[in-house]
Amino acid sequence: MLQLIKEGNQALENLRLSGDFPPSWQSMEELESTTDHFISRFLDERYHIAHKIGGGSFLTELLDRALRTADTECMDDGTLPESEKLELVQALDRQNHTMQLYPRYVALLLSLLEKVQRQEGRKFTVLELASGSGGLALALAKEAQKRELPITITGSDIVPKFIDEGNRLAAEKQLPLNFQLLNAFDLPEFPEGSFDLMVMSQSLHHFTPGQLAIIIAQSAKHTKTAFVGIDGYRSILLTGGVPLMACLQGIPSFALDGL
Ligand SMILES: C[S@@+](CC[C@H](N)C(=O)[O-])C[C@H]1O[C@@H](n2cnc3c(N)ncnc32)[C@H](O)[C@@H]1O
Repeated sequence: MLQLIKEGNQALENLRLSGDFPPSWQSMEELESTTDHFISRFLDERYHIAHKIGGGSFLTELLDRALRTADTECMDDGTLPESEKLELVQALDRQNHTMQLYPRYVALLLSLLEKVQRQEGRKFTVLELASGSGGLALALAKEAQKRELPITITGSDIVPKFIDEGNRLAAEKQLPLNFQLLNAFDLPEFPEGSFDLMVMSQSLHHFTPGQLAIIIAQSAKHTKTAFVGIDGYRSILLTGGVPLMACLQGIPSFALDGL
């Protein structure tokens, strides 16, 4: 989804003024359907606003409608062998290294954790959801080890092969890190407040709005400090840039990631 900030803010304000937003919910099923319903109302509202403004605003809205896709990404294709999925997340990991993304994400996470440690002086715990190749969890563990910060990091994903590979790398590099097989929107009953931070990086767009709402609601139960979601800013640059990087790496199936 392209961002259209001004039109989006106005659409949100209109939904607030209608008195129906934010809605209440009683169960995770209701949260999921209510969120999907509101996002669809939000997009309709934004369309009308962009239409009224006209010009570049409406053109961008039309472009977004043409490009936006809820198609399943190759990585989530249930029929793709896990070894091929691993190649895809490893290519993404190379891309993240090339673009120097991990140091930026690690700095952000450590700034939050160091605040906790200064205030409470205890060991802290991080759960990363949908961690793919495990590149971020590995980078975070390496930096924390370098700074001698007391930390336990758990990476997780729904693909068993990623978990085996992550645990192999963590053991090889002797890092304070383990990987567990977890479905991000159906987490087990961890004891309340098990984690200081729950993190999801570059995976938010793999979930429907309703699924994301469930993930964030669950994190409130399990997390003491914050849920941190990191993803690409959906712009014309990203729409063109991701497919370009994908083709340069010889993996055109990445192209959907920019849309
Ligand atoms: C684009 S990759 C991002 C991986 C990693 N965070 C990164 O930045 O390289 C999306 C990841 O989401 C995972 N995923 C998709 N659905 C999931 C679910 N229901 N629970 C956990 N992980 C899931 C995929 O297996 C994949 O590893």
